[in-house]
Amino acid sequence: MSNQGNPSEQTPQARIGTLWGGAFSRSTDDAVRRLNDSLRFDWRLYDEDITGSIAWAEALAGAGVLAESERAALADGLERVRAEFAAGTFAPAPGDEDIHTAVERRLGELVGDVAGKLHTGRSRNDQVATDVLLWLLRVRESVQAALLDLAGALVEQAESARGAVMPGYTHFQPAQPLAVPHWWLGHFWALVRDVERLDTLAAAWRDKCPLGSGALAGTPYPVDRARLAARLGFTRPTPNSLDAVADRDHVAECLFALALLGTHLSRLAEDLIVYANPALGFVRLDERYSTGSSLMPQKRNPDPLELARGKAGRLIGHLGGFLATLKGLPSGYNKDLQEDKEPLFDAVDTLLELLPPLAGLVRTLAIDPDRMRAALDEGMLATDLADYLVSKGVPFRRAHGLAGQVVRLAESKGAAPSALALDDYRAISEVFEADVLDVFDFDAAVRRRGAVTGGAGDVDDQLARAQAWLAAR
Ligand code: ARG
Repeated sequence: MSNQGNPSEQTPQARIGTLWGGAFSRSTDDAVRRLNDSLRFDWRLYDEDITGSIAWAEALAGAGVLAESERAALADGLERVRAEFAAGTFAPAPGDEDIHTAVERRLGELVGDVAGKLHTGRSRNDQVATDVLLWLLRVRESVQAALLDLAGALVEQAESARGAVMPGYTHFQPAQPLAVPHWWLGHFWALVRDVERLDTLAAAWRDKCPLGSGALAGTPYPVDRARLAARLGFTRPTPNSLDAVADRDHVAECLFALALLGTHLSRLAEDLIVYANPALGFVRLDERYSTGSSLMPQKRNPDPLELARGKAGRLIGHLGGFLATLKGLPSGYNKDLQEDKEPLFDAVDTLLELLPPLAGLVRTLAIDPDRMRAALDEGMLATDLADYLVSKGVPFRRAHGLAGQVVRLAESKGAAPSALALDDYRAISEVFEADVLDVFDFDAAVRRRGAVTGGAGDVDDQLARAQAWLAAR
């Protein structure tokens, strides 16, 4: 917008204030500009962008490219730009293509010509790669904090469900009885892996500082990249500049971690949706976490759970879509890579919006231990009946068949297996004795399966481990 009186400087750069354009004689088509511009979503990187620029100015000063007074002026100006963003007073200008150009343009307005020295030896390619890594290292902690809250809610439910027994399912058919805390904790340990996966990924992300890679071929100035990396909280600089500007593994890895986390949430949601159905009635959602129907007055809909299940599809889509963007790119930076940000931001936003209500829903729902127990039937102890025979020396494969005969006989008589006469048992196998009736105790069946094998038996021990894990975080 400046230099209007000097036609020799009426390049597109002068007219629209972009960072490039010196070699162009016509300015970008408006529709292309709208397509190209990313400021509307990448402004969220402002903090990381400014932190990276301040560190880069230090690196340039260390390399003798900037005088100390210039470095200080740039750092001051950058902090002022940061403050404008933080206060919400930053005013974008028409030529602000992305967060990098916007910050530099504003810096120039605040500190004058010295701003033009900041980009020495740097490219937006190494800059954006660094920004996104720093952003990931920050937001993964928010996701983990939200996850820990949900994990804590699961443990609280497990704690208060001590002593309750429910049907456990495989193929969603009644399988074996489970201690209710064991079911809750089954969801908890999946979230533990999600939290720990983000730790592991963060360690890998910290291990590759791309700044100093330039556009693709490195920087000709003798910057101390190891020091620069450390200054930004990385453990070391990347070893190959061409790879460093194209590497989006961290984006794909994060999208995978979030898609898998979403899949875990979907499974929890699906369990609760089914268990909240009045036909089972195992859980009842608090009114604050369920919704009504505009037509049917009796309805209590588990909308937050359905959204949790539904959003897993969106998270998986972001991963698949981004991998498709990456495949087929030649070496180096390609503009396609700008497509990393919207799915990444959306995946993080989606989870940060979803996890808190899900934690509240879990924390406030009421289980119905009577309905859970009423849903048990002795068929779920057929395996225990086989194990009873095993304890008397019968090989398991044969015991399985004999227990099956008992189930069949009971069904044909319309009676529970525990209601059969001892003679009925002995007609099937002489190995059966009067103590066979001890098998038909759901609580004992649950206790028999010990914690060491991951079973439900020693739920107290498992709960203690879960609480210790939470306390250590
Ligand atoms: N907005 C771009 C992105 O997010 C920044 C890098 C652009 N580099 C370039 N040479 N056009 O990928």
